[in-house]
This record gives sequence, C-alpha cells and structure tokens, in this order.
Amino acid sequence: MHNDVAVGTTLRTSLPANRFPLHPSPKYLFIAGGIGITPIRSMVRQLRAEAKTDTRLLYLTQSAEETPFREEFTGPHDTVHHSDDHGLLDLWPYLAEPDDDTRVYCCGPAPLMQAVHTLTAHWRASRIHVEQFTAERKISAPFTAVWAPDGLRVEVPAHLSLLEALRRNGVPVESSCEAGVCGTCRLAVLEGEAEHHDSVLTDEERPSTIVACVSRAASSEIVVGPLVRSRKDHP
Ligand code: FES
Repeated sequence: MHNDVAVGTTLRTSLPANRFPLHPSPKYLFIAGGIGITPIRSMVRQLRAEAKTDTRLLYLTQSAEETPFREEFTGPHDTVHHSDDHGLLDLWPYLAEPDDDTRVYCCGPAPLMQAVHTLTAHWRASRIHVEQFTAERKISAPFTAVWAPDGLRVEVPAHLSLLEALRRNGVPVESSCEAGVCGTCRLAVLEGEAEHHDSVLTDEERPSTIVACVSRAASSEIVVGPLVRSRKDHP
C-alpha cells in the first residue's frame, strides 16, 4: 500500500474476519494481560450494557501507569492486578473448577496464554477461547504441493511458506496477517497430511484444512485446493 496507493485509488475491501467471536453463554471469565484488554474491553462493555450475564474480568498489568482504560474496570466483578506491586496473580483459584456454563476468554502475552492453556486442560475445550497476536514458526523439510484445480506441482523449499510458493507459481491465494492467526489463507487438504503451525483451526478442521502462510506438509506431497467457504465465514 505504501508503494501503490494514493488519494483517489479505489480499493476492494471485504468484511472483517473475526476469529475471536463472543459466543453466547450464561457466564464469562475474561482474562486480559496488558494491551490484551483491547478485544476484551469491547466484549465486557457489550455484555454489561445488555446486563444479561455474569461477567467477571481479571485484568493483569505491570503497574497502574501501564493499565489502559483502568478507570472503566472498578466494579465488584473486576480484578485489576499489578505485578510490580503484588507479583503474578495466581489464576488457579479462578480456573480450578471447570464449569460448562462459563466461557473463558483470554488475550495477552504468550506466557499468560500458556498459563491459561495449562490451567484449563481439564475444562471442555470449547469453553476456552484465546486470541494470539502471532503463531509459532518452525523450519521444516521441503515438500511438493499439488494445486488440485489444474494439477500444477509446486516445490516448497524449507525457507518458503506454502502461501509464497503457490503465489510464485501463479496461484493466487488470499492472505491477511501471514502469521497464522486470521485464517484468511485457509486451503482444503485433499490428499496428504498437514503439519499445523497456526492458531486458528479447530480440531475438527485440522484433518481437511491447512493455513498456507505458516503450515506445511507432514508428508512429502500434499494436494491442496480452494476452500469452499461457509456462510459463517462471510456474514
Ligand atoms: Fe492470516 Fe494466513 S494470512 S492465517
């Protein structure tokens, strides 16, 4: 865009994709670390405006000075915790008892997400929602991708992503974050097995879908093609 867009340029846009949607639930536990409050603030405000649900917030930051919007979270169901003053908050008391009526939403730095992931291992997976800023990247072996619509064979070397290799061979694949967190570049896996490095696919999607910007083939060859998108992808 820096190179090509000027005042007056017409841009084609689409609706935003939401990989961190707020699902209906009787109760919520929100855990925000630092600037991770950004998506969670909107959710909490919306739910409290509707006044229909039990909404608890744990907002974890280093100090009061580094706590954006702290004046908004002073209610009886808000815990704003500063690690400089009190050390790290023990999350176990909030997560020890799994509850199918509660959805846990967490956004923040990787160690916080990892802690929530570990401490909710005994919860039903569908009740835990995390929003990551980046996905882990891993160098893997080269492989061959076959583009199903025309049988084009594309060599994917270790240093290139599947997305980039397909594009260099003339296969247009849409992308956005290119970090494995938005899901825009998802493709269907028709043969072979994917080695997943993304943070967006559900367990149900993984056998038949690959996120081309970060994931690779687990086998020497994989056959991929455009994903038939459902209405929920394009509300
Ligand atoms: Fe966002 Fe691939 S472009 S997940």
